Amino acid sequence: LASIEVDVSALEPGMSLTVKWRGKPVFIRNRTDKEVEDAKAVPLAELKDPVARNANVDAAEQATDLARSAGEGKENWIVMIGSCTHLGCVPLGQSGEYNGWFCPCHGSVYDTAGRIRKGPAPENLHIPNFAFVSDTVIKIG
Ligand code: FES
Repeated sequence: LASIEVDVSALEPGMSLTVKWRGKPVFIRNRTDKEVEDAKAVPLAELKDPVARNANVDAAEQATDLARSAGEGKENWIVMIGSCTHLGCVPLGQSGEYNGWFCPCHGSVYDTAGRIRKGPAPENLHIPNFAFVSDTVIKIG
């Protein structure tokens, strides 16, 4: 299926972009240092869904902030399918108790790494196959 390339050069830290891919919204966020620090500070034992849900890493990989991000040196970037893992509503960004994402449908709360922390959703927001093809362009799919 088709992949897309997205120019993210305009995204300063703290800015996001939503693109459509395979009929679904994909959230791309250049996270602030604080957002990364907040996510890193969470003990893994506190996570409701312990695995990364990242198509780019091993399926058993733990949901560390690094494994949820675009990886070493690009940890500020996060790319996720914008579909709540409960029943598929589109979560709102920079909302909710952890200032991550909040699903208004039934109150699922995700942290700044898109990991489910409260509410009915069973899994972290899914991360699609993607890669930086240059410093400023992300290929999704
Ligand atoms: Fe998101 Fe139900 S669809 S909480």
